[in-house]
Amino acid sequence: LSVGIVIVAAGRGERAGSPGEGPKQYRAIGGRAVIAHTLERFVTWPQAAKIVIVIHHDDESLLRSALKQVAGSPDVEIAFGGATRQQSVLAGLRQLQGSGVTHVMIHDAVRPFFDHDLLDRVAEALAAGAPAVLPAMPVTDTLKRADGHALVVETVPRAGLHAAQTPQSFRFADILAAHEKAAADGRTDFTDDAAIAEWNGLPVTLVTGSADNIKLTIKRDIAMADEKLSATLL
Ligand code: C5P
Repeated sequence: LSVGIVIVAAGRGERAGSPGEGPKQYRAIGGRAVIAHTLERFVTWPQAAKIVIVIHHDDESLLRSALKQVAGSPDVEIAFGGATRQQSVLAGLRQLQGSGVTHVMIHDAVRPFFDHDLLDRVAEALAAGAPAVLPAMPVTDTLKRADGHALVVETVPRAGLHAAQTPQSFRFADILAAHEKAAADGRTDFTDDAAIAEWNGLPVTLVTGSADNIKLTIKRDIAMADEKLSATLL
């Protein structure tokens, strides 16, 4: 297994609110940028053969500063992303083309709290021959579908339902081909890479995710992550 890593960090983070504070992947938690934490966990994982970070054109200096916060000035390549997450992932995959990696892990920069055990579980499933591997957690809340007026129309049975995490991981040639086909077909609405794999007929294998592996999405997530790390540092 030669595993390439694509970290997507080109989002504008509008949902985190607070205009002027910048994209959430560059906000500080525990004294360092979110993406510095994310990157460090990949840099220190022995199986990472090559790392590509996909950023927005405006964010190059933000990334350079964040890289300085990671021990040992990591060797990473930079690609520039697009208007959707899907386009940003494709830019990262194209950057890895020709590098000789056999597999790729695609990860959201805004998920800094995964651990090496999770990466090992995913890599193990890839090594066992799975073409697509998805870390996920069983849904524990009861799910309600509502109409546009805050009225519940349905309780959705949660048996068998899982919440998808990243890094979603694939045979490199298979996911690149699936992404290229989606782009050529004008499909831009996929919210994760496993969905593109499914759409292209690849079987997707679930492995147990991690409850800590949350996506920092709204402003409150950043504040909670900062508190958590600061408490650990004391
Ligand atoms: O917006 P969402 O929560 O789906 O973002 C998940 C990840 O995808 C974030 O790390 C974000 O920076 C990245 N992204 C991207 N390019 C976009 C949109 C999101 O790289 N156009």
